Amino acid sequence: MLSKSLEKILNNQVKLEGDSSQIYLAMASWAENQGFEGIATFMYSQSDEERMHMLKLVKYINQRGGEANIPQIEEPELDHTSFKTLFTQLFEHEVMISKSINELVHITLQEKDYATHNFLQWYVAEQIEEEATARTILDKINLIGDDKGGLYMFDNDMKNFSGVQSLA
Ligand SMILES: [Fe+2]
Ligand SMILES: [Fe+2]
Repeated sequence: MLSKSLEKILNNQVKLEGDSSQIYLAMASWAENQGFEGIATFMYSQSDEERMHMLKLVKYINQRGGEANIPQIEEPELDHTSFKTLFTQLFEHEVMISKSINELVHITLQEKDYATHNFLQWYVAEQIEEEATARTILDKINLIGDDKGGLYMFDNDMKNFSGVQSLA
């Protein structure tokens, strides 16, 4: 059975993953409107993944005798003045998510809830990938700068980009 305090912070993570899904969705829609099809495809699929992260938590909370709260959808605040600002925000958001997961893991140890500790290891591993993906994309953007031809090629690359592993 989940403690009340863990139930509360896991629910907070449900909200964060839901927010992540909205952020990626907003970016997808923006990119689509700008004609960047590859980036849009990538962002739509990331948005789906974040929703899956949220669902996994919802089910876990309920399975352990807690009660999952389904958060309200909020409009993400995005600065899309440039690709650089956009992808910097994305990277910073993923770093913030990793910190939040780490904090959760820490609390499970304090409370000696090893089942939840074990459950969260999946998120720890996932965040390594997510941060690496966000960092790789940001590096590329920094290389390209505002070069239109470079952005065109970058967009093309993104069509088949499904994360850091596929970059090799
Ligand atoms: Fe996530
Ligand atoms: Fe993420």
